[in-house]
Amino acid sequence: MLAYPREAWGGIWGRALTEKKTLYSNKSLNVPEGHIPIKNVLVVPIMFLTNVIGLLQVANKMTDYEEKDQKLLETIANHISPILNSRLQMAREEREFRQAEQALRDSEEQLRSITTSAKDAIVTADDHGKICFWNLAAEEIFGFSEAEAMNKNLLKLIFPEHFARENADRIEKFGLTGKQPHIGSTFELMSKRKNGETFPIELSLSAFKIKKKWHSLAMIRDITERYNTDQDLKKSREQARRLASHLQSISEKERLKIAREIHDELGQSLAALKMDLTLMSRELSEKKREIKLDSLLTEIQSMVFLVDTTIKQVRKIITELRPEILDSIGLIAALEWQSKDFQKSSGIECKFFSNVDELQMNKEYSIAIYRIFQEMLTNIIRHANATNVNVKCDKNDPGKFVLEVSDNGVGITNAKIDDLNSYGIMGMKERATILSGEVKIWGKTGSGTTVRLVIPLQE
Ligand SMILES: Nc1ncnc2c1ncn2[C@@H]1O[C@H](COP(=O)(O)OP(=O)(O)OP(=O)(O)O)[C@@H](O)[C@H]1O
Ligand SMILES: [Mg+2]
Repeated sequence: MLAYPREAWGGIWGRALTEKKTLYSNKSLNVPEGHIPIKNVLVVPIMFLTNVIGLLQVANKMTDYEEKDQKLLETIANHISPILNSRLQMAREEREFRQAEQALRDSEEQLRSITTSAKDAIVTADDHGKICFWNLAAEEIFGFSEAEAMNKNLLKLIFPEHFARENADRIEKFGLTGKQPHIGSTFELMSKRKNGETFPIELSLSAFKIKKKWHSLAMIRDITERYNTDQDLKKSREQARRLASHLQSISEKERLKIAREIHDELGQSLAALKMDLTLMSRELSEKKREIKLDSLLTEIQSMVFLVDTTIKQVRKIITELRPEILDSIGLIAALEWQSKDFQKSSGIECKFFSNVDELQMNKEYSIAIYRIFQEMLTNIIRHANATNVNVKCDKNDPGKFVLEVSDNGVGITNAKIDDLNSYGIMGMKERATILSGEVKIWGKTGSGTTVRLVIPLQE
């Protein structure tokens, strides 16, 4: 028996197939090279119901084929027909079974690849809330291996205790009805890892049925990064808002302070001078008393002294408004001078180290650095209760200027560093950020505080 595709049959065989009738030829046939010569041939289609399911053929009879040969072969074909049909049927069923098996394997493999390569955790739970599927991403996100997670209660395994307790009855209801308020929606909530750490997730929940039992499918994404960025953004917006209003109130206070200083100090000195001069001119013009050169000189000298003091006061106010010292002596020298002045006025020993001679930088930079330095020192006087301060200027890292001030005082706490009301600290950070630099602060209770400013320089 030969299995040969139907379309490949030509000639007398092809005709027997398509016309569904017995054919014989007693003439020799053209055959391809290598084929045994065919002198005569008889072909009978094997029919099953109305279909041709095979061909029965004989060839090369010594004598010609006749009708009785045809009858005999047709009888044989009729006997073969049911046997052949059942063989063919079996072969077909086996082929179909194998194909179905392969298709199942393929689709299982595809599903496995999808769930394994997915970045999101894919988790399913049965009608009692027990985990029955746990992919690789779930292992990575939650820290439980598949073996550890299987058959565990999903709620208890990956959610904080209070959440699991509050939602326990929902699982029961879901098992019966396939309904639950969150089915079909995506929402954010806090979840729990194996190590106990809670973290934010985005959860999409859906329901499906296997063997008439409701199951839930959860697609879970770890959104820690997005959450932190959102929190940071919110915090820095809040900081910016507070700082802006604080700066506004500071500038109001500064104006008030300067006005008061001008009023109290300059105003009084100038008024005293005016009084002295008025008195003197009145005395001179009225010649009320004999003018004594000595006393006139003393009066003038005291007035000169008053003018000197006034000039100093004016300088002080101007220096506070704009550190002119920077223009005249340069930033590094100004920082050194400020350190000495700090030691003199506070009584706290202050050492100044620098491996930088002088820096060429524009005023915007030097003023910002100077102001940050002033805030560092003011904070030490006000909060540190220190006895020693070290100031270091460094330019070892090319293109970067580092100013580090450390004290041996009480030590700043992290809470104070991050406090939204620490405007002085925020102001230092803000000033540094504007110049693409940064301020880092760290402290240890009882061992002091260090504030480090790093500013990139354009050489
Ligand atoms: N060198 C330091 N040692 C110890 N604590 C410090 C030091 N510097 C700052 N702090 C703490 O950090 C807090 C915040 O400082 P920050 O400069 O922001 O505010 P402030 O000095 O209290 O007020 P201002 O807005 O006038 O500067 C301070 O109140 C203080 O508790
Ligand atoms: Mg301060």
